[in-house]
Amino acid sequence: MDLKSAFANVLKSQVLSSWTEEDLLSLIETPKHVHLGDLAFPCFKLAKEYRKAPGAIAEELAGKLASPLFSKVEAAGPYVNVHFDSAAAGKEIVDSILQHDEQYGKHSFGSGKTVVLDMSSPNIAKPFSMGHLRSTVIGNGIANLAEACGYETVKINYIGDWGTQFGKLIVAFKKWGDEEKVKENPIAELFTLYKKFHEEAALHPSLEEEGRKAFKLLEDGDEEITRLWKWFKTESLEAFKTIYSLLGVEFDSYNGEAFFNDKMDEVVELLEEKQLLETSQGAKVVRMEDESLPPCLIKKTDGATLYATRDLAASLYRHREYSFDEALYVVGQEQTVHFKQVKEVLQKLGYEWARNMKHIPFGLYLKDGKKMSTRKGRVILLEEVLQEAISMAHDNIKKKNPDLKDADQVARDVGVGAVLFHDLKNDRLNDIEFSLEHMLTFEGETGPYLQYTHARAQSILRKAGVSHHSTFVGLEDKASWEVIKQLRLFPETVERAWKNYAPSILAKYLLELAKSFNSYYGNTKILNDDSKQASRLTLVYSVASVLSKGLGMLGIGAPKEM
Ligand code: ARG
Repeated sequence: MDLKSAFANVLKSQVLSSWTEEDLLSLIETPKHVHLGDLAFPCFKLAKEYRKAPGAIAEELAGKLASPLFSKVEAAGPYVNVHFDSAAAGKEIVDSILQHDEQYGKHSFGSGKTVVLDMSSPNIAKPFSMGHLRSTVIGNGIANLAEACGYETVKINYIGDWGTQFGKLIVAFKKWGDEEKVKENPIAELFTLYKKFHEEAALHPSLEEEGRKAFKLLEDGDEEITRLWKWFKTESLEAFKTIYSLLGVEFDSYNGEAFFNDKMDEVVELLEEKQLLETSQGAKVVRMEDESLPPCLIKKTDGATLYATRDLAASLYRHREYSFDEALYVVGQEQTVHFKQVKEVLQKLGYEWARNMKHIPFGLYLKDGKKMSTRKGRVILLEEVLQEAISMAHDNIKKKNPDLKDADQVARDVGVGAVLFHDLKNDRLNDIEFSLEHMLTFEGETGPYLQYTHARAQSILRKAGVSHHSTFVGLEDKASWEVIKQLRLFPETVERAWKNYAPSILAKYLLELAKSFNSYYGNTKILNDDSKQASRLTLVYSVASVLSKGLGMLGIGAPKEM
């Protein structure tokens, strides 16, 4: 039994029978400060029921609760705090890890439910930005957490492949483009053309009109224009797929904006039926309840549809196709208003399920404190960052472990892991200052630090010839107890990280686990051929397994040797 349940069980015997063990379990907390104890039970709710002061209840309960698993039970204000007995609780914790084995850290509360994630979603003919990196890795982390909790996931890459910008690009290509050049380096070349369009349009405003017309032709299915657009798209997707394979991210669907081109009439009809459309300066809009929000633009004066129209069509489609329990949009916080609008429009249409759509925003990568913008050229190319990280990891291997097998794979895991962890350890809403140097530091609170810790544990296991969990008779030293306490927190950390859509919670936990393990390792002779050796190895095995599973959930590989 895990220790929270054990605590709930002991509490149950001392409170009114109307309180179930579930009720009690849901109230138990982990104290903010370790010196307060390992678990805490707040007495506010009980106090209401008993019509007594919470402090008095806590005093009373503390006197009555006893278990061989607890070394101390004490009241602290309105809380009953419990300190574990390291020997008894330690054995209980490790036994539970042994018993769950590969399932340790996983949950089943999500089983039978589906989470749809809208993630990555770069725009074709434009560079894959650091913002798209954030969406990809945060989205992938959240999806892995959902799966660890039992959910089915559907990862959708809602490619930005529709909109007036493609009209502009087509005009630019026809005027100044070179097919060979595009083939050689599609994204960079198309992006250069796109930028040139904007420069020229500043001097010759009539270009804008040409762009709009070209997009109209595309919407109407003009053959030549469609052929160009398709080609741009194929080339771009190919380039994006190189990045996804480096990152190890896969998608269940690539249905982007263009896929919904023929599915928007339905949205407009529904809105008309419910009389939700208003005309504002020639455009069709839906007004928001909250007057401070701009109205949601559905159709432009010339009849062209918009980003929001496509997102509305996409949400209807996804609800039908996947009947999701939750739909998460992992998109930068600058699109907060957009998602508020889309959700409100769906609610106005009477769709209850719109409540289960959530925008999961994240902050920006800044360069010298400023937003990186594709237009102004302050843009960092993700692929270059990844390649650089991988080559640094290679150099490191050459220096430290020149005979390493699978050196290429390890360098990839480490280089990519460095970039990913640098992002995922931050609360997603924070802005991150882009610094290659910090990203590629293989010490301190980094991905490579966790990977080294894991590899170190694996190397002990290799020396001892241990390849699976064995037995645990108990360990008495303080350092091992610190590790065991961290191991205990893995399942609840996974749950909390999922419930907050916050891979950073897991990332920070893994750092704590690694720290506790490294100080254990530094103070203990693990291979000492005594009666406790098997228990120590079991601990090492458990740490290795939690580190590798945890990193895996963050989308980071954990090589066995580095
Ligand atoms: N392609 C968009 C961009 O790069 C992001 C799309 C986000 N997803 C959505 N369903 N709107 O800004």
